[in-house]
Amino acid sequence: MATTETAARSDHGAAGKILRIGIIGLGQASGLVLNWERQDIRTLPIRFTAAADLRREALDQFAKEYDAEVYTDVEEMCRSPNVDAVYIASPHELHMEHTIIAARNGKHVLCEKPLSLSAGEVDAMIKACDDNGVSLIAAHSHAMDAPIRAMREVIASGRLGPLRHINALNYNFFNAQPWPSRELQMWHGDLYNQGPHQMDIIRYLGGGMVKSVRAHMWWDHLRDVEGGYSAYIEFENGAAANALFDWRGYFDSTCYTFGASEGGWAQDPGSCGFVRNNMTKLLAEKSPDEAEAELWKLKNDLRYGGVSDLNAFQHWGYAPVSEGFEPFPEPVQPFFGLIIAACDRGIIRQSVKGLYVHGDDGVEEIEVTGHSGRAAEFMQVYDAVFNDTPSFHDGRWGKGTVELCQAIEQSAKEGRAVDLKYQVPVGDEPA
Ligand SMILES: NC(=O)c1ccc[n+]([C@@H]2O[C@H](COP(=O)([O-])OP(=O)(O)OC[C@H]3O[C@@H](n4cnc5c(N)ncnc54)[C@H](O)[C@@H]3O)[C@@H](O)[C@H]2O)c1
Repeated sequence: MATTETAARSDHGAAGKILRIGIIGLGQASGLVLNWERQDIRTLPIRFTAAADLRREALDQFAKEYDAEVYTDVEEMCRSPNVDAVYIASPHELHMEHTIIAARNGKHVLCEKPLSLSAGEVDAMIKACDDNGVSLIAAHSHAMDAPIRAMREVIASGRLGPLRHINALNYNFFNAQPWPSRELQMWHGDLYNQGPHQMDIIRYLGGGMVKSVRAHMWWDHLRDVEGGYSAYIEFENGAAANALFDWRGYFDSTCYTFGASEGGWAQDPGSCGFVRNNMTKLLAEKSPDEAEAELWKLKNDLRYGGVSDLNAFQHWGYAPVSEGFEPFPEPVQPFFGLIIAACDRGIIRQSVKGLYVHGDDGVEEIEVTGHSGRAAEFMQVYDAVFNDTPSFHDGRWGKGTVELCQAIEQSAKEGRAVDLKYQVPVGDEPA
């Protein structure tokens, strides 16, 4: 079995330098980073030195756990001399405001997806960062997972000939999780939440330059919001992609990915029915106002500083529920659904350890090492700040992803293909 370390990333600090990060928004996403994310974040040359939030309980827990500065005002935190870069994990609608505040105060920015809810807002974020000489990196993206980067390296090496097609398929239970209805409506179901992951992966593998998209969307009657999309995406280089994403919770495609979830944890495919039943029951038994209040309470429980106990996670599907389901003991490589890339002379797909390359001479498994998920993203900020290595996954890239999500929605509404105009190349095409 071959082994690859995904390239161009410093997995060790530059001459012992430590990147000091201030967190904006200690909610669920930050909870994943601080409590749950693959433990390799703890091994990185970064420190969480400050946080800003409106919730006192989260700030108190953070101050105690990290012996760090805490603020209720984002601008004040961004003035701290003990912060080099901020990780923005506030709600989508505040990403632009918080990026501009950070940039104005000379802080580099790692901003959660979607960068914003419109490509126009992203322009203001890019301008603020450019004007102040700081980096803007679009997080959180499964395009930065080590197997996806390795897949891109195989494509870009040209050893299998030109890329022809990408198949991306994901069925999960996002809508059935305890998101307040007001938020789900604003996010158009999962379109602007996890849609960016799938679009980032496709754009990255395909070289970045999407020409057009023709999409179709469907409804989730349980939550009364969008339930999924299918999209046919064409690239300027002649490659094409089919993307399917259904987030209603009827079925979980981890059964096609060796039981591994987007974080690489074992995910019982049976838990999606369990979670959807929980939501059906909750909505049936309560009035709309009571249900919304209960959903906010549950959301709060799952945030950093909330209850975060195993029962809450188990109740909402983060733990195995089927009798006989045996999770593997350690996380494996992360899978954002099934991703298959077809080139002229072979096919690449993910394995538990990395990749399978199906070529003319048979199947080769390539073991992949290197950081995935947010650990990889924090290292992109590190490299941008200390090693002068800009991330391809910058503001302009993030704008292209927001544009593609908007185009899916527009195409589905108008029943026609939509052309794209803000796409940027990955920049590693074979000569
Ligand atoms: N929830 C997840 O699992 C998850 C995963 C990946 C990415 N994300 C992304 O992370 C971002 C945050 O999502 P979330 O689910 O953690 O939301 P959340 O609502 O749980 O957390 C947001 C946090 O921001 C704080 N906040 C709100 N207004 C603020 C302000 N003006 N100043 C300072 N703090 C403020 C809130 O008190 C809360 O603690 C979103 O863009 C989302 O797409 C979330």
